[in-house]
Amino acid sequence: MEVLVFVGLQGAGKSTFHRERFAATHVLVSKDLLRNNRRPQRRQMRLLDEALLGGRSVVVDNTNPTVEDRAAIIRLARERGASVVGYFFDVPIAECLRRNAGRAGRGRVPDAALFITARRLQRPTLDEGFDRLERVGFDEGGR
Ligand SMILES: Nc1ncnc2c1ncn2[C@@H]1O[C@H](COP(=O)(O)OP(=O)(O)OP(=O)(O)O)[C@@H](O)[C@H]1O
Ligand SMILES: [Mg+2]
Repeated sequence: MEVLVFVGLQGAGKSTFHRERFAATHVLVSKDLLRNNRRPQRRQMRLLDEALLGGRSVVVDNTNPTVEDRAAIIRLARERGASVVGYFFDVPIAECLRRNAGRAGRGRVPDAALFITARRLQRPTLDEGFDRLERVGFDEGGR
């Protein structure tokens, strides 16, 4: 049982990567699926816990930019005996802006949101409690 914590800007390709690599094996937990929830953070943690109590592996697909954003996820995963892997989507902001611009409708976010996330982004480190770190580069993953 493992929890994969995705970290990366909007448009970096996180959801695509989940769909291509992990949709068949890992439960998808994402605040993007909780847009109408009054307390998405609480709901997300509950869904994560339910999956782990059921013995399922999980992908947490948010931008998860800060150490603080990731801490509760890592803590719960370890508490439930899962290994925790950080996936850092190391894609330059210019490319994320380009990919974001290519998205249609609801998936597309304002450019300003990427600049805000880029400023807050803290690259994941093992000190946070990850068992392992993976890097997804510019030309990896996807389609
Ligand atoms: N490796 C890739 N190379 C080129 N384009 C890609 C790649 N991966 C994804 N894309 C495209 O980039 C766009 C953004 O991808 P995706 O929706 O997976 O990003 P995301 O990281 O989940 O963004 P968000 O945080 O806003 O949900 C999509 O149109 C997708 O088809
Ligand atoms: Mg996404």
